[in-house]
Amino acid sequence: MSKRDFIAREKEMAARNYEGRELEYLRQVLTSGKLSSLAGGEFTPKFEKEFAGMVGTRYAVAMNCCMSALHTAVISAGAGAGSEVICDPEYIFAAQAVLYDNAIPVFVDINPVTHNMNPEGIEPAITERTKAIIVTHAWGLPAEVDRIVEIAHRHNLLVIEDCAEAIAATYKGKYVGNWGDIGCFSFQASKQMSLGDGGMATTNSKQLAEKLAQNAGAPTSGSVSYGLHYGYRMTETTAAVGLAQLETLSENIKKLKTNAQYYDEAVAGCKWLRLQRGPDEAVHTFYHWAATFEGEKYGISLDDFKNAIEKADISSIAGYTDMPAYRHPLIKEKLAHAFHCPTYKGNKDNYPVGLCPVAEKVIPRVVIAYMIEPEETAKKEAEKLRQVIEELEKT
Ligand SMILES: Cc1ncc(COP(=O)(O)O)c(C=O)c1O
Repeated sequence: MSKRDFIAREKEMAARNYEGRELEYLRQVLTSGKLSSLAGGEFTPKFEKEFAGMVGTRYAVAMNCCMSALHTAVISAGAGAGSEVICDPEYIFAAQAVLYDNAIPVFVDINPVTHNMNPEGIEPAITERTKAIIVTHAWGLPAEVDRIVEIAHRHNLLVIEDCAEAIAATYKGKYVGNWGDIGCFSFQASKQMSLGDGGMATTNSKQLAEKLAQNAGAPTSGSVSYGLHYGYRMTETTAAVGLAQLETLSENIKKLKTNAQYYDEAVAGCKWLRLQRGPDEAVHTFYHWAATFEGEKYGISLDDFKNAIEKADISSIAGYTDMPAYRHPLIKEKLAHAFHCPTYKGNKDNYPVGLCPVAEKVIPRVVIAYMIEPEETAKKEAEKLRQVIEELEKT
């Protein structure tokens, strides 16, 4: 499948059957006449309570998307102009949130198998300007967040988990979003919980919960403003759908895992597609099934593989963005104020090619597929992938 088709497929994947209590809860919101928690609506606080209960944290703050949760998390970590935040380079989202608050992203390379931040790279990246680490649980697979938290807390840094792709994923029996200081979740349409748009920040700290809520809930007219707060609140209609989706979440995750198994079976025995798995005790919730192409070692070129999956019209792509976050124009061309802010005393040109060699190699070779599809479709798509492997191995 071409990249353009894959993006079109994201739209397809975003359309869901809402077969739970969504309509019932939506009707309750509309008949109450209260479409905002500020107007006394009860769905948003209820959704926050139930979501926190699921993740196991003391608090959760509902917002309009995960970028808002990440932005308010960065502000709440005290990372503004002049400071640095450590990010992983497979995704742009963490770095983007850091730049929203005029701080500078510093990249630490990933592990080639898990696609998650390599804890070994963190300590050398810490400077006196570092305030926090944002760790993404890539494609739904938990990072080694226990090691990352241990290092961060030893250096008085906050850990922000980007759980946008990993709702309900667990590591060592504990949910992601409950390991670090703040967890940030996405309910964007293509995610495991699909609310059109929506986000949530989780934390065990009362102080951080208050800061997150304040930073996300800009004063409405007539209020006094005590800081640069943002209008990131969630609406009651979104919260109503969220509550209904929470009730069916574990069922839905089971379906994603079943679909992922068909893909696992299709690539079993293929030496040149390495599954994104591990570490031990990390339970993946498959926003995407992912593997890394390593065909060059076996005489198969990446272009041949890409051509073969496009020809077979498989609903997977190889290559994701093709570049690490620091090669995106936003960073490469310094399109954010942080790069021009005199308060920052570090090196603003610290993004050379080769900065994160593993990410640079892995990102153009990552093979990803959406798991939100009917089981029959997943079976067929996985079989097509198996046939492509067979064909390429014959030549
Ligand atoms: C890893 C990651 N972080 C953050 C986001 C942003 O989520 P939202 O669209 O809810 O702001 C996404 C969305 O795709 C994501 O995959």
